[in-house]
Amino acid sequence: MSAVRVGLIGSGFMGRAHAYALAAAPKVFDLPVELRLELLADVDDQVAARAAAALGFHRSTGDWRALIEDPEIDLVDITAPNAFHREMALAAIAAGKPVYCEKPLAPNAAEAKEMVDAAEREGVTTMVGFNYIKNPIAALAREIIHSGEIGEVFSYRGHHFEDYMIDPAAPFTWRHEPSAGDGVVGDLASHAISMARFLVGDIVSICADRDTVYAERPVGSDDSVLFQRQVGSDKKRPVEVADQARALVHFANGAKGTLEASWVAAGRKMNLAAEVTGTKGAIRFDLERLNELEMYVTGQPPGREGFKRILAGPDHPPYGAFTPAPGHQLGFNDLKIIEVRDLMTALAGGEDPWPTFREAWEVQRVADAWTISAKEKAWLEIDEAATA
Ligand SMILES: NC(=O)c1ccc[n+]([C@@H]2O[C@H](COP(=O)([O-])OP(=O)(O)OC[C@H]3O[C@@H](n4cnc5c(N)ncnc54)[C@H](O)[C@@H]3O)[C@@H](O)[C@H]2O)c1
Repeated sequence: MSAVRVGLIGSGFMGRAHAYALAAAPKVFDLPVELRLELLADVDDQVAARAAAALGFHRSTGDWRALIEDPEIDLVDITAPNAFHREMALAAIAAGKPVYCEKPLAPNAAEAKEMVDAAEREGVTTMVGFNYIKNPIAALAREIIHSGEIGEVFSYRGHHFEDYMIDPAAPFTWRHEPSAGDGVVGDLASHAISMARFLVGDIVSICADRDTVYAERPVGSDDSVLFQRQVGSDKKRPVEVADQARALVHFANGAKGTLEASWVAAGRKMNLAAEVTGTKGAIRFDLERLNELEMYVTGQPPGREGFKRILAGPDHPPYGAFTPAPGHQLGFNDLKIIEVRDLMTALAGGEDPWPTFREAWEVQRVADAWTISAKEKAWLEIDEAATA
């Protein structure tokens, strides 16, 4: 493929992030393909036309099926809510088109597996938006772990905390619909699972907890409101999905860990964090400071022991594509630009992008097992849990 004409479905929080990354990627990287923002679909013609004009797409449609069938679309980019991912991706795969889909891949592992099977059967390229593993600091953490610099890893602590649902007046949105998944487990624990798998590897068993802090929420006027302040109406809807969730996990390599997620963690804004401990040291990072990694190695002189702070710079690829100056800092949208680079490289015939639908299904199996384990109050083997 020498030119990639993108059809973007959805223009909310992630739709805008994708549009920005698609537009910026050719300016940051020497991409092997020409990228064209061709067609944008949203819920109706007016919303789509407005978004297309604002985000730089040539055309718009209120019908996502028309986008997929459009002969001038080479890549289907799905940023609609979770409940739509399966239907949209399966239609794109049936049309033989590569799919770039937001996380979680699907509300549950069964739907995710159907998507994996279809994509692998048709041989289409897939990629899922677990953008935090694109952070050069995450790549550095992985390199440190795999090189043995902190010895044999035996402990992992990971969590993803934000507080966009802390206000009880925050309205019921699509994120509270059980059809989107188990609330924060699909929304944020999926990122924590993805990061744990990226750094340490397969999770084989889990003993989890999850609960709903606010049992009802006001019905809002805008289904997609997330970070704007909005007072819901007097009408309430019951909430069944998880607001917070915790788990003990065992990794295939023998390491033990904890994972947590909360969207009601007051004061936390983008606290996706990990602490990895091995026999010769430890590393830790928190993506509220996404350009920093702290590293401790054993054997330091008494009285001088401590974590050192490493700031991201051109020695941590692909940081240098953005700026030659160390410590000047990348941001959230830059991680999406790296994600787009990887996808375009694959579409031009390079190696498969990461993470694929299959990897996102593996993440979803752990997420499903998390909810089942919490409900059954029991340890579960991921392979034996009632997940697809
Ligand atoms: N990777 C990340 O860091 C990250 C962050 C936030 C959200 N997400 C994921 O991105 C996806 C979207 O989340 P969001 O926060 O952007 O949601 P959002 O509510 O802000 O935006 C959803 C968009 O999809 C559109 N849409 C809804 N139904 C549609 C339909 N039938 N046809 C066409 N368009 C439709 C909406 O009008 C809106 O433009 C979710 O899967 C979410 O989990 C990922």
